[in-house]
Amino acid sequence: MGGLSLQGDRDTLWALNLHLRTASRILVRVARFRAVGFRDLERRGREIPWHAFLPVEVPPDEVAFEVTCRKSRLYHSGAVEARLREALAASGAGRPGGRAPRRDRGESKGALPPPPRFVVRLVRNRLTLSADASGTPLHRRGYREAVGKAPLRETVAAALLLAGEWHGETALVDPFCGSGTIPIEAALLARGIPPGLRRRFAFEAWSGGSPEEGAAARSRAWGEEGEPSPAGSLPPILGSDRDEGAVASAWANARRAGVETWVDFSRAAVSTAPLPDPPGILVTNPPHGHRVGDPATLRNLYARLGARIRSEWSGGRIVLLSADRGLAVQLGLETRVLFRTRIGGIPVEALAAEIP
Ligand SMILES: C[S@@+](CC[C@H](N)C(=O)[O-])C[C@H]1O[C@@H](n2cnc3c(N)ncnc32)[C@H](O)[C@@H]1O
Repeated sequence: MGGLSLQGDRDTLWALNLHLRTASRILVRVARFRAVGFRDLERRGREIPWHAFLPVEVPPDEVAFEVTCRKSRLYHSGAVEARLREALAASGAGRPGGRAPRRDRGESKGALPPPPRFVVRLVRNRLTLSADASGTPLHRRGYREAVGKAPLRETVAAALLLAGEWHGETALVDPFCGSGTIPIEAALLARGIPPGLRRRFAFEAWSGGSPEEGAAARSRAWGEEGEPSPAGSLPPILGSDRDEGAVASAWANARRAGVETWVDFSRAAVSTAPLPDPPGILVTNPPHGHRVGDPATLRNLYARLGARIRSEWSGGRIVLLSADRGLAVQLGLETRVLFRTRIGGIPVEALAAEIP
């Protein structure tokens, strides 16, 4: 949630899309103007360099518009979209009547981006039109085909690690690892592997892009994350789950992410989950009752985890995503809030605690 703006060129676009671990998408601001009537849309719409933000082969009616209007004279988003579409079609951008290329509509097939998309915000009669440079949202790194019961977004997993200030110095464990998202993101972070390396972005197909440019940007990206932890010196990165299918999917995802050498997944209930010695950081997204688990037994599960780490992992740290303070309290630890966000509409908190 939220965003920030900055200025840059195509190299910046590559850097942001390849390296940002917690951003959902990169938008490029194309036009900003005052629009109080349809004539403004028609006139200013004709001045927009649509062709610069579209692949040449795309039929104009394949282009997606996401329009929101607030506190403005023009309040009908459908009508605003229709005028902008007309301006796009009149500009000759794209290929009228052309055949749409095959699209990626799935969670995992990072190979082809979804239809090109413009995001339009009309607030207090000021219109901002942006082109979606990422395409498929950035949390889809391209490695997660096998998903567990309630998979965590890759960007949220990375946010837990970054907010917990873990950069690969200590052992890391997730005893509710599901499809392995947290340990996999941890290995990518510790090895300095750009999270977007294995996927494509919408802007690659805009005018000015070429396969050579993409290859050069990707190979350059390797050296840009600073010194990665040497592979041999990486501390243990462990995940466990009581569900056998989840553990299998975690391994499959780790292989696709190219990090299977630096992670270890095993099947275990939380009472026997491996805890590395010396203690490091436990980062996890436990069952919380909204999507997984029954509230009565969940309190017991949190209490057992708390008792275990307090007796066996003194000196370690814990970072967890919590949708229910009543459950987090059962850990018996003094927690502080790292950040708050919403997941699937549910408010959640990232909590951290030192294990005394
Ligand atoms: C919210 S999901 C974790 C999702 C994971 N972060 C991901 O990205 O796929 C919670 C996981 O806890 C596991 N689990 C539930 N009770 C458990 C227990 N007693 N011991 C170990 N794992 C358990 C479930 O099988 C499930 O995969």
